[in-house]
Amino acid sequence: MSAPILTMNWESLKQAFHDCRAQTLTLLAAIEPHWWSCQLHPDFSPIGWHFGHIAFTEGYWLLEHCQGQVPPLAQYRDLFRADGLPKAERQQLPSPEGIFDYLQQVREQALNYLVQAPLESQARLWWWLIQHESQHTETIVFLRHLAQYAVKNPTASTNLDWPAPPLTPLVEISAGSFEMGSNALVAQDNERPAHAVFLETYGLEQHPVTQGQYQQFIQAGGYQTPDYWSPEGWQWRQGQEIHCPLYWQPQSAAWHHPVYGVSYYEAQAYANFVGRRLPTEAEWEKAARWPTALEISAKEQSSIPSSNLGNFNQWQRQTTPVGHFPQGRSLAGCDDLVGNVWEWTSSLFTPYPGFESYPYPGYSQAYFDQQHYVLRGGSWATRPWALRASFRNWYHPWVRQILAGFRCAV
Ligand code: AVJ
Ligand code: FE
Repeated sequence: MSAPILTMNWESLKQAFHDCRAQTLTLLAAIEPHWWSCQLHPDFSPIGWHFGHIAFTEGYWLLEHCQGQVPPLAQYRDLFRADGLPKAERQQLPSPEGIFDYLQQVREQALNYLVQAPLESQARLWWWLIQHESQHTETIVFLRHLAQYAVKNPTASTNLDWPAPPLTPLVEISAGSFEMGSNALVAQDNERPAHAVFLETYGLEQHPVTQGQYQQFIQAGGYQTPDYWSPEGWQWRQGQEIHCPLYWQPQSAAWHHPVYGVSYYEAQAYANFVGRRLPTEAEWEKAARWPTALEISAKEQSSIPSSNLGNFNQWQRQTTPVGHFPQGRSLAGCDDLVGNVWEWTSSLFTPYPGFESYPYPGYSQAYFDQQHYVLRGGSWATRPWALRASFRNWYHPWVRQILAGFRCAV
């Protein structure tokens, strides 16, 4: 995929709408039947539910809300609304064929509507839907990854004869202001409005923490040493039988891959262990002085990052060694900011000054509860429409099922 610099036009919107869906349908066809409707983890809905929810959301916003029509298969409404059934009660699902049909029927009507819709006033909603679909397909991918690759035996040997790597070099970012957030049409409510932020000089690690580095923490007894953990983190750790990240990869080839499948608490404990800290989201974003193509894509609204800039969009289906995409290096000199693994930051998810909910308060505002932390950068599974310097993801600090690692700062 290339990154053409397009000005906002309906063809590009339609193309993105189509491309995003084509990948969703490919993913649907690849889901193993026995994982379709079972709940793989109590915090997440079954895989099949997410596909139905994608169709429901498109039908609700475009057909019901905008067009004023009853969407196809309206009987699915209560099953696939986000605020309907509890997650554990979402296991009685239509078959994959039934959901495929649901997606198709809603899409057909949405495309008919697109011909006559007042797009000038609705383009933001269509871009929001593409990103909504992108995010749910990432959830599907990590749930499947959880089923296949989660470390099953928590006491499995982590005594590997990997070389002990040095700490990651720090990239120094000098004091000054930068523009944080985005006012682009594609920007989510929580990225807006763009605003100037001043930061003192700081250092940010050139790449995410690797498995080889994290192994030092494991071997030093990090999981058993309360000193490295915050009080909440240690309390959480004591309730878990864990000795390594959820997606620990003991193969020798993986020592230079980023560690992932860690909670915020584990990331924080590692940072304390090495005498560093997690960066704030502002520090992450300032360092993500993206390669020109990406900076432009954020501004021009419709182009997306190209595949030579990083590991995303499931092209590799797994992590890649850090520093594998020199063309994706930021102007500041940081690698792997585009994809590979999401990166925990030390920032709670809070509104920027002047925040306005869109398209509904439950999307972002409901999570400004001082209990969610911001992650940045995207993973190997992140769709290109959700990849930009200003994009904010958020989860509870104990979540390990997502494709998240971290880098440290000083
Ligand atoms: C921002 C990824 C945490 O998937 O729960 C999807 C995005 N919100 N539908 C999620 C979202 C409503 C959200 N995350
Ligand atoms: Fe959703």
